[in-house]
Amino acid sequence: MPGFWKELKKPFLGLSPMDGVTDAPFRSMVANYGKPDLIFTEFVSVEGIAHGNVKGLNAFIYNRIERPIVAQIFGNTPNNFYQAAILLCHLEFDGIDINMGCPAKNVSSKGSGAALIQTPELAQQIILHAKKATEDYANGQTMQKAGLPAEIIDWANKRKKNTKPKHIPVSVKTRIGFNKPVIEDWIPALLETKPVAISLHGRTLKQMYTGSANWDEIKKAAQIIKKTKTLVLGNGDVQNKTQALQYAKKYNVDGVLIGRAAFGNPFVFTDNQSLDLKTRSNLALKHARLFEKLLPENHFVQMRKHLAWYIKGFEKASETRQKLMQTNNADDVEKILSEIAI
Ligand SMILES: Cc1cc2nc3c(=O)[nH]c(=O)nc-3n(C[C@H](O)[C@H](O)[C@H](O)COP(=O)(O)O)c2cc1C
Repeated sequence: MPGFWKELKKPFLGLSPMDGVTDAPFRSMVANYGKPDLIFTEFVSVEGIAHGNVKGLNAFIYNRIERPIVAQIFGNTPNNFYQAAILLCHLEFDGIDINMGCPAKNVSSKGSGAALIQTPELAQQIILHAKKATEDYANGQTMQKAGLPAEIIDWANKRKKNTKPKHIPVSVKTRIGFNKPVIEDWIPALLETKPVAISLHGRTLKQMYTGSANWDEIKKAAQIIKKTKTLVLGNGDVQNKTQALQYAKKYNVDGVLIGRAAFGNPFVFTDNQSLDLKTRSNLALKHARLFEKLLPENHFVQMRKHLAWYIKGFEKASETRQKLMQTNNADDVEKILSEIAI
């Protein structure tokens, strides 16, 4: 079930999922100015969904311009993945991605995220349950029958657009290993379940975000994956579009995901590589206004780090950054940015 993936022109570039960063306003900025080939949401806990945590669903607010948009989920219980996948079909995402790469203690200590590299059979069950859900949804399965909590169903029904149920594809994002690279065992285990795509961050769980991404291991994985119909995306330390295209060729991957290099730079997916202060400050204000519009219930504190990223590296930035770190709304931001001599 390749869905939108088969329409992508290779090599394709995507915005990597980032918790606390790739929320609806940031994704809208990236979709608008960077136009990557695909975009991922932040991850959401399937256990949270099963327990009726409606607040976490804010990560699933999206705008049409973000399409193709893939929702990412994490957890450790196959049945909860089944339910969450039914919800994501109902919300009309273009795809579902399963996180098997998060190294954070609060995720991996529960056997979720990158810890699944150590339990390949459970990882397989998780993928198969999500895939079964997408198939069932296309054949008439409902959120009620799947046993989703009433509050989750209410939230989802408010956002449903009443289109025909679609069978959407399931992909996986993971790392090259737990303590050390284990590509030869881990990748074939994933491939047995036929995910539509595997995105591979070239670090182990143990490395967290230290050292550099090991693209030779990504290349090794790509050689295995390319013998199947599954697509392979490389990820880790890519700084711009030029480098992404070079890496796609050099390491033989179908696509590349860019994460941190997109901080404060939605243009990272374009040839427009250096933005002047005026452009950056305009972007910061636009983003702040979008934040208020799309996430009115969220605290403006979540927006502040983006503001700092937009003006990073400019003369007098630290003074302005300090002021931006105290803003509580977009009007405050406008006032401070208008004081910068440009
Ligand atoms: C703040 C932050 C949050 C992240 N959250 C997620 C997440 O929710 N899901 C995921 O698969 N990866 C997550 N990642 C990992 C990134 O998607 C990506 O794999 C990693 O940052 C390496 O790519 P980069 O060097 O281009 O940033 C996160 C990374 C950062 C820095």
